[in-house]
Amino acid sequence: MKLTVVGSGYVGLVTGVCFAEVGHDVVCVDTDASKIAMLRDNVPPIYEPGLEELLKRNAAHERLNFTTKLAEALPDSAAVFIAVGTPEGEDGSSDLRYVKAVATEIGRLAVASLLVVVKSTVPVGTCDMVEAAIEAELAKRFPVGNGSKPKPRVRVASNPEFLKEGTAIDDFMKPDRIVTGVTDPESAAIFLEMYAPFVQDDPSRLQVIERRSSEMTKYAANAMLATRISFMNELSRLCEVVGANIDDVRRGIGSDGRIGKKFLYAGPGYGGSCFPKDVEALLSTAQQNNCELTVLKAVSHANKMQKMHVARKIHSHFGGDLKGRKIAVWGLAFKPGTDDVREAPALTILSALVNWGAEVVAHDPVAQKTFSQAWEQAGMKPSQILYMEDSYDALDGADALILLTEWPEYKRPSWTRIRSLLRTPAVFDLRNQYPYKALADAGFHYECVGRPDSRTGNNGGESRPGPEGRPS
Ligand SMILES: NC(=O)c1ccc[n+]([C@@H]2O[C@H](COP(=O)([O-])OP(=O)(O)OC[C@H]3O[C@@H](n4cnc5c(N)ncnc54)[C@H](O)[C@@H]3O)[C@@H](O)[C@H]2O)c1
Repeated sequence: MKLTVVGSGYVGLVTGVCFAEVGHDVVCVDTDASKIAMLRDNVPPIYEPGLEELLKRNAAHERLNFTTKLAEALPDSAAVFIAVGTPEGEDGSSDLRYVKAVATEIGRLAVASLLVVVKSTVPVGTCDMVEAAIEAELAKRFPVGNGSKPKPRVRVASNPEFLKEGTAIDDFMKPDRIVTGVTDPESAAIFLEMYAPFVQDDPSRLQVIERRSSEMTKYAANAMLATRISFMNELSRLCEVVGANIDDVRRGIGSDGRIGKKFLYAGPGYGGSCFPKDVEALLSTAQQNNCELTVLKAVSHANKMQKMHVARKIHSHFGGDLKGRKIAVWGLAFKPGTDDVREAPALTILSALVNWGAEVVAHDPVAQKTFSQAWEQAGMKPSQILYMEDSYDALDGADALILLTEWPEYKRPSWTRIRSLLRTPAVFDLRNQYPYKALADAGFHYECVGRPDSRTGNNGGESRPGPEGRPS
């Protein structure tokens, strides 16, 4: 099938390469000419494991093309995916201007029957808006009763995306489920044809529901996952006070089949391009409809508190005075496996440290460039953070190490080397990766999240395993 994907970011690009990988003929469109130029040179503009290989292979087989002009892609496409950004607006609602712009352009260009698929995360009712925007343009081009060509039939469907950055290709190629929201059987049939290669072993994984329910499902999924994280973060604060270990509690409840193991890790708060904005957008939808979501309000509040709670641990350790303190930071991305720093806890925590007078030296294997851009966009000065190419260089003469993102390369560091580089041996493990006992024995002051640490003197137990169930 010939498919067009509009928006070549984390979602659009992964969607495009994965559809091409199963044999569809795909054109990816983006208004950002520099992105399209990179993609034409087989260079992915984002970091996502496995993406480059798929990009090169499918471009070489001419199943994958790139353009800045929708007009070049649309005419003979069976379906066009809208995968542009839906950032948080000033009032917390979802900013739909990019979605609307694409819908209007489709209305101006459509010449034959077409399925428009809204893949961006959008509030309930957005498919109706997209349909109205397209129809308004079509009505101008195909006025009733003037004997001109018949108006093309343009159907609009919802198909939210559930991929997780860092494992996006795998998530797309082997989905738990594909949710589609349609208004007619013809749209459902097109979805089946497009997605058949991804659900061959179990076609029931392609769920066909109503459009509004499909739009709501995406928000419900992210709100549920954010709720689990905020709940565990709140409990971790209580564990710290009463002397319990949140990781033992997590194992205890996660092995209950009704609860499950994923998204139960205490840490510095959830971040990323989805959870924060989607929680706020759902709250905004509720407010517009006079329906109070008290649980979700608390989830958002607890997350903001958690970021400052962990920042204050560092502040308190240095007696409330960070002037002249050099703090080394390992990890800036909101989770391992991505260079995405949108709403990363690092942004809030490092801003607080800098405002309290600390000098920050940071390392991240892939997110230093995106972080420095986001730091400036947040109105901070580039000179406030020094970036190091080598993780150990960041530690030289520092008063503390903060682990903020659990990249694999930080999991088993040389504590002897760390001890020799730090000016004062303090470690703030905001991802509960390191064992307290070994660090205490090596003479470190060690603090973590919701587990016993140097302040309580109990055994902090084992380090925790891989990045099971991290936010998308
Ligand atoms: N990033 C994720 O992990 C993830 C997961 C699931 C869903 N989503 C949702 O998917 C959507 C896209 O997210 P993303 O992270 O890929 O965003 P992104 O910012 O990485 O990419 C969006 C792209 O759209 C392009 N664009 C904007 N207007 C355009 C237009 N008129 N024509 C063509 N291109 C245009 C931008 O230049 C940009 O490259 C959002 O609604 C997001 O909430 C994201």
